[in-house]
Amino acid sequence: MAVFRPFLKWAGGKRQLLPVLVGHVLRLGTFRAYHEPFVGGGALFFELRNLGLVADGARLSDVNGRLIEAYQGVADQVEPVIALLREHASRHSRDHYYAVRGANPASLAERAARLIYLNRTCFNGLYRENRQGGFNVPMGRYTNPTICDEPGLRTASDALRVARLSAGSFVGVLDQARAGDLVYFDPPYVPLSRTASFTAYAREGFSMADQERLAEVFGVLADRGVHVMLSNSRTDAVLSMYARFRIDVVQAARSVNSRADRRGCVDEVVVTSF
Ligand SMILES: C[S@@+](CC[C@H](N)C(=O)[O-])C[C@H]1O[C@@H](n2cnc3c(N)ncnc32)[C@H](O)[C@@H]1O
Repeated sequence: MAVFRPFLKWAGGKRQLLPVLVGHVLRLGTFRAYHEPFVGGGALFFELRNLGLVADGARLSDVNGRLIEAYQGVADQVEPVIALLREHASRHSRDHYYAVRGANPASLAERAARLIYLNRTCFNGLYRENRQGGFNVPMGRYTNPTICDEPGLRTASDALRVARLSAGSFVGVLDQARAGDLVYFDPPYVPLSRTASFTAYAREGFSMADQERLAEVFGVLADRGVHVMLSNSRTDAVLSMYARFRIDVVQAARSVNSRADRRGCVDEVVVTSF
């Protein structure tokens, strides 16, 4: 059987933490609908689909509207997206990259293909927008990037059949999640230090006030009987915001930092309400 996996490389992708997160979900056992309000590359969603655990539908959302358009394109129009990506692959060059980067196509399939093409060929595969909402990452130096992974896109489209997609802030989950559902929050992490911060995922960064609002939303959902899980960095602020919940510390290597001397092992936490 085809293996479901993310069709985008996303900063903060959860590949290393995945076994730990899956362990918590298995410990929980059954749940109703699955919600991922900071979906990014969706690593946990695709893995739970592989395990047959998303039986009752999923709601995936992110504040990055262009990211959600890419999901919508892959979900609903995968063949046109594939055809457009084949064309990008055949025309791939420095000039083509910067022309696509500067373009703002009208159709959903073109917009999805644009984001996937840039994601596959840009520097470090980090989708980052400037304050005007422009994509400003230079071209990466890949000799032979896989621009159009046809089988991968078709299986991702299949995986997304059970998902409802929407763009918006994480607080929207308060209107969606019911008792017995599972919510996984993977926010931009609380920075370990000012220089280690990497929170420019979207037009606005994610501030400490956002982190506090998120902890509040976590508590409201938990009190409602929703099963809630969150990953974040192991900082004093995080430990105190979630003090009333179960906190497991996990060592994980992170490579988002551009300064090699700051890479390496940092502790992360997984907070669960169950
Ligand atoms: C750490 S990444 C998620 C990574 C993801 N779990 C994966 O496997 O690739 C954080 C995501 O949160 C999104 N985000 C930032 N602020 C947000 C907000 N206020 N509401 C919802 N999503 C937000 C970013 O666009 C980004 O995609």
